[in-house]
Amino acid sequence: MATDDLDDMAALLGDPDVMRYYPRAKDRDEALAWIDWNQRLYRREGFGLWLVTLRSTGEFIGDCGLTPQEIEGTTDIEIGYHVRTDAQGHGYATEAAAACRDLARDVLGIKRLIAVIHPDNTPSQRVARKTGLTHERDTQTRSGQAARIYATAL
Ligand SMILES: CC(C)(COP(=O)(O)OP(=O)(O)OC[C@H]1O[C@@H](n2cnc3c(N)ncnc32)[C@H](O)[C@@H]1OP(=O)(O)O)[C@@H](O)C(=O)NCCC(=O)NCCS
Repeated sequence: MATDDLDDMAALLGDPDVMRYYPRAKDRDEALAWIDWNQRLYRREGFGLWLVTLRSTGEFIGDCGLTPQEIEGTTDIEIGYHVRTDAQGHGYATEAAAACRDLARDVLGIKRLIAVIHPDNTPSQRVARKTGLTHERDTQTRSGQAARIYATAL
């Protein structure tokens, strides 16, 4: 993810459907901050959210990757994904998440993966389960939103 991807990322994160389980959709400045955050993570951690593109055409699909998240005082590595509304339902998030899980385990030496998911977000919970994560507990995010923690040891 780089500053050149701002148009694609602003369209993705500005889509109210993609962001329906977040407090609100992001504006262009917030999408730029999202890119900056991931670039800082690449430098500091060696990972972050990456772009998902179609191998055949290079078309932008969304993002997927690994980010540190603090939940109830403990920082774990979260697997996250966002797919363009018109590209959903083709297995792209599942394919990308499996690749990120394998990289986390085989290259980065990460021992535990979590996903923090709104209880009503069925598609995301399906992707988490297909990636090998199971429902661990229910909690709240720092902003007070209900959240379901999926997790797996790697
Ligand atoms: C979650 C998300 C990334 C999934 O992307 P995707 O590329 O469509 O995912 P896949 O096609 O790999 O799999 C989606 C799964 O959800 C299921 N699904 C989709 N809509 C569903 C619905 N309304 N009810 C139940 N299951 C649903 C699909 O059937 C599929 O499961 P299956 O393979 O068992 O049939 C996408 O819905 C998205 O971007 N959502 C908004 C952003 C978001 O919530 N991100 C996660 C934050 S925790």
